[in-house]
Amino acid sequence: PLDVRVDDLLARMTLPEKVGQLLQLDARGDLLDVVSAKLAGSILHASPERMHEAIALARQTRLGIPLLTADDCIHGHSFWPGATIFPTQLAMACTWDPALLERAARATATEVSATGIHWTFSPVLCVTRDLRWGRVNETFGEDPYLIGELGAAMVAGYQGDGLADPTAVLACAKHFAGYSETQGGRDASEADLTPRKLRSWFLPPFERAARAGCRTFMLGYQSIDGVPITAGKWLLKDVLKGEWGFTGTLVTDWDNVGRMVWEQKVCADDVEAAVRAVDAGNDLVMTTPEFFDAAQTAVARGLTDEKLIDETVRRVLRLKFELGLFEDPRAPDPERQSAVIGCREHADLNLETARRSLVLLRNDGTLPFEGGLTDDGHGRAVSAGPPRTIAVIGPNSHDPHAMLGDWAGASGQVDWMPDGHPRELVETVLDGVRAVAPADWTVTHARGADIEVLVPDPTGPNWPDGQPKPPVFSSAPVDETQLREAVATARAADHAVVVVGDTLALTGEGCSTATLDLYGGQIALLDAVAATGTPMTVVLVQSKPSTLPDSALNAAALIEAFNPGMRGGRAIAELLLGLVEPSGRLPISFARHVGQQPVYYNQVRGQHGTRYADLTQDPLFAFGEGLSYTTVTYSALTLREQDVPVDGTVHATVRLTNTGDRPARETVQAYVSDLTTSVTWAEQELKAFVQAEIAPGESADIAIEIPAARCSLVGADNRRVVEPGEFELRVGPSSRRQDHLTARFRVQG
Ligand code: IFM
Repeated sequence: PLDVRVDDLLARMTLPEKVGQLLQLDARGDLLDVVSAKLAGSILHASPERMHEAIALARQTRLGIPLLTADDCIHGHSFWPGATIFPTQLAMACTWDPALLERAARATATEVSATGIHWTFSPVLCVTRDLRWGRVNETFGEDPYLIGELGAAMVAGYQGDGLADPTAVLACAKHFAGYSETQGGRDASEADLTPRKLRSWFLPPFERAARAGCRTFMLGYQSIDGVPITAGKWLLKDVLKGEWGFTGTLVTDWDNVGRMVWEQKVCADDVEAAVRAVDAGNDLVMTTPEFFDAAQTAVARGLTDEKLIDETVRRVLRLKFELGLFEDPRAPDPERQSAVIGCREHADLNLETARRSLVLLRNDGTLPFEGGLTDDGHGRAVSAGPPRTIAVIGPNSHDPHAMLGDWAGASGQVDWMPDGHPRELVETVLDGVRAVAPADWTVTHARGADIEVLVPDPTGPNWPDGQPKPPVFSSAPVDETQLREAVATARAADHAVVVVGDTLALTGEGCSTATLDLYGGQIALLDAVAATGTPMTVVLVQSKPSTLPDSALNAAALIEAFNPGMRGGRAIAELLLGLVEPSGRLPISFARHVGQQPVYYNQVRGQHGTRYADLTQDPLFAFGEGLSYTTVTYSALTLREQDVPVDGTVHATVRLTNTGDRPARETVQAYVSDLTTSVTWAEQELKAFVQAEIAPGESADIAIEIPAARCSLVGADNRRVVEPGEFELRVGPSSRRQDHLTARFRVQG
């Protein structure tokens, strides 16, 4: 019946009405008249006030086809005052917990759908390669399997029980595909990829999302082997819509069609760009209003068959029918908004997510403070010991923007807060320590350093339409006054918590960095605080892994928080004081030096020369790493069967024992190494992970199951196969080889 309704409507549409349905327009500024003039099918970035108006305008057009509204709510509802902002995707990935991420996505969908948005451009399924890339924070890290699992969970959370449910929003797998394989980490550069490399590493998370029912996909900005992704027929039509049977809708990225003319310069004009975009299998065209006239001209000149346009319009209409927009255009619902946006339940879930996302990387026993305090039942720690002084220092110790990270409101969620108390909903580390430390402890604060300064770029690229040249950001000089104040503050304390990292200016789309070092006066600050002799815990509040100075690496303790969201400050304080246990694990490797790029763990085997003469290839912190306040030992790895058919499953068990005196949440990681392969392949790949909670002194036998089909590779003929032969199962708490118990099995052909 849905197809009948689609066909019936399509048969009544004029060509302009059809092409209009393929437009996704930017709803900011004065574009709303364009929505009706161009009969636009979709808008993005509508302000709360504009949303109602736009939805109503679409209903007033001749056929009254409802508008599809979209936004980038990628770790919470990013464009609504007071909405819940979760940790960034990279931070959430540290939980290694698909079920938790599904709940976070469900909460986001509930908030987003109440504000008239039908579609969120999330999850990002790019596989991080070069840490200099500005969008690392938006990814789930570097492992295709982990990305696929977490991505599928978020898709399930967003789309809920089905699109007909008014609390469901469309998920969007992006950026399809290979966008993250940048050159020099520079955003939107040509991706040096072959179809085989795409199939090997970059497509699997997308295929997982497609098969999990993700209803929309978005392109990246890159070109591959000379072909802009927007014109990449093989990937869009043959693979996505053909092989994977994707029936949903594909949207370009921002002005991708126009960029083929003015940026990539592979099309002479908008008409040629429209022809190529339609031919390649794009459906919705994001923010290229020129497409409206261009596509009609292309049809009139016989350059594009109207049937191709019909095919794409059909997909867009189908989605609108699936969402039930013809019956209910899903306008903003003030009643639901006040019930769900920023509600207690979501705030609690956000805190739980933040707690679980923190990764303890170093600890000489200093943490938790005083051996771990207890909760007074109201979220504050109590201590029977003498009062202490904690110095909370650093440029990111009290910066709400740094807690939230990218995609948290156009000018930051913080600035959107009404009534002159903008920061109230965001807990910084200083806020958290003040709120959670025992009432008789003293909490002091100093900023200590600045991060970046803005300088005009005299040689910046020429942007079209007369926009000013973009600024560049330079490292801030050491500020001696701030530094002295921080040193005095640290000296007078029992413990210094130094919070360093990066800023919004140094992250995001088009914002890659040439260096991974801590910017500005931060290294001088760490060195100076370390020199005071006060035990120092370093907390990294940053969009992506930095390289770290010795003063940070030799600190008493080191915590990676990435951008931990609105409740992150409290979560960090609870961890410091021992009210919660550290359980996060890295979904990404850390480099020792920027020149070590790329440093991801699952690189293809090379020969002896793949190492630098002056730098080890060993990462600073490896994929999967993370400590607890207790110790967990692994023993007795056993395989149920040594011989497994290609369509069978490997069953293993491993015994975990909590040998410390605090509870553990352990992430058991199972890697597989295909010992001999027909093509060069990764030395090992993550194939399964299991989380277990183990009480002090207790043991548990953990079952691991790996379908043999998962142990496949992409052969020289571009096909994914399991090559019969010998494999090694490696089980442990990280990807580090020295952490593994091993067992061999054979896959029978
Ligand atoms: O969704 C984003 C995408 O990730 C990058 N370009 C702009 C889009 C819409 O805001």
